[in-house]
Amino acid sequence: MLYSARFLSFFLAVSIAVVTGLFLSLVEGVDRPALVVATAISFSVSYLTIFVVLEFLIFSGLNKVNKMMNKLMKRELKSLPQEKPTTLLNPFEKLNQEIATFAWLQQKEIDELKKLEAFRKEFVANVSHELKTPIFAAQGFVHTLLDGAVNDKTVRDKFLKKAAKSLDGLDSLVQDLLTLSQIETGDIKMKFDSVDLVKLSEEVIDQFEERAKAKKIQLKIRPPKQPRVLAHADELRISQVMTNLVSNAINYTSEGGAVTVSFEVGKKSITTSVTDTGEGIPSEHLNRIFERFYRVDKSRSREKGGTGLGLAIVKHILESHHTKAEVQSEVGKGSVFSFKLTKTKEEKD
Ligand SMILES: Nc1ncnc2c1ncn2[C@@H]1O[C@H](COP(=O)(O)OP(=O)(O)OP(=O)(O)O)[C@@H](O)[C@H]1O
Ligand SMILES: [Mg+2]
Repeated sequence: MLYSARFLSFFLAVSIAVVTGLFLSLVEGVDRPALVVATAISFSVSYLTIFVVLEFLIFSGLNKVNKMMNKLMKRELKSLPQEKPTTLLNPFEKLNQEIATFAWLQQKEIDELKKLEAFRKEFVANVSHELKTPIFAAQGFVHTLLDGAVNDKTVRDKFLKKAAKSLDGLDSLVQDLLTLSQIETGDIKMKFDSVDLVKLSEEVIDQFEERAKAKKIQLKIRPPKQPRVLAHADELRISQVMTNLVSNAINYTSEGGAVTVSFEVGKKSITTSVTDTGEGIPSEHLNRIFERFYRVDKSRSREKGGTGLGLAIVKHILESHHTKAEVQSEVGKGSVFSFKLTKTKEEKD
């Protein structure tokens, strides 16, 4: 009200008319009707002039800028949880506040872009480094063979096997990178279905039997009381999650240890855990192990063929299931990786 053109014009016109009236009343020879007419004319002219100036030159311009700022902010604020309504009436203050908020949002976006740029640079450096290692190794073996080693049958077989191993590593690295980028770009859509987690885990564990046996690791499933544990999930992707978790558990557990898959069935969800009695992860690394290429002990992990992409894939797949992996670990004692999935409807209590 206070900042409407009508009110301000009225207020100013009344003031001008009063001053004019008072002034004329002091002038000799001005009679009462002339005074009233002069005051009325002064009021009307001032009101109209001030109203036109305020309404069409100042307020409408300000409103246009305000509207534009509002539109810009709405676009920006879409990502924010709640837009605070402005309660300010003064259009100048309102505009000032909106410009300040907009500038803050822009700054936030710039910071975000800077972070992404740094992340991109680091990612490219990591990918190049990881690709270089197996390519150089395979290249070395092939050149040695070409330089004459091919004539010695034992050396030839040994080098060919090593070259093949390097190329297999390269293939799995590229596959992992492809999976990650496809999940991120949305090229891989989750195909949700009712998935029997016990059956899925048994199938995953079967693949690792040989590796566990070779390391004398006891690999087992602790089945739940329920005959079937059905979860709302993408079978192939959750199988990938389990493969990565069980593979890590076996890789980072020394001979004679144990790896156990267990389930906790709640009212609405099922928690699957992979527990190992391995080397454990120091607490300062726990929140970083899900980053791409992050390894606690780079040299030891690489010896085991790791590139640090397994848990990044696990994180992405679980995010697409609107859940996340939890990890508890104690150095020297072992680790527990677990994740929650929603029960399928027919299974809910
Ligand atoms: N069960 C575990 N026990 C101890 N350390 C673990 C365990 N799981 C993961 N880690 C640590 O977290 C790091 C990241 O794991 P991740 O699976 O992402 O990579 P990786 O196993 O090194 O390589 P990749 O899985 O790509 O072959 C590992 O290098 C390892 O140091
Ligand atoms: Mg791994």
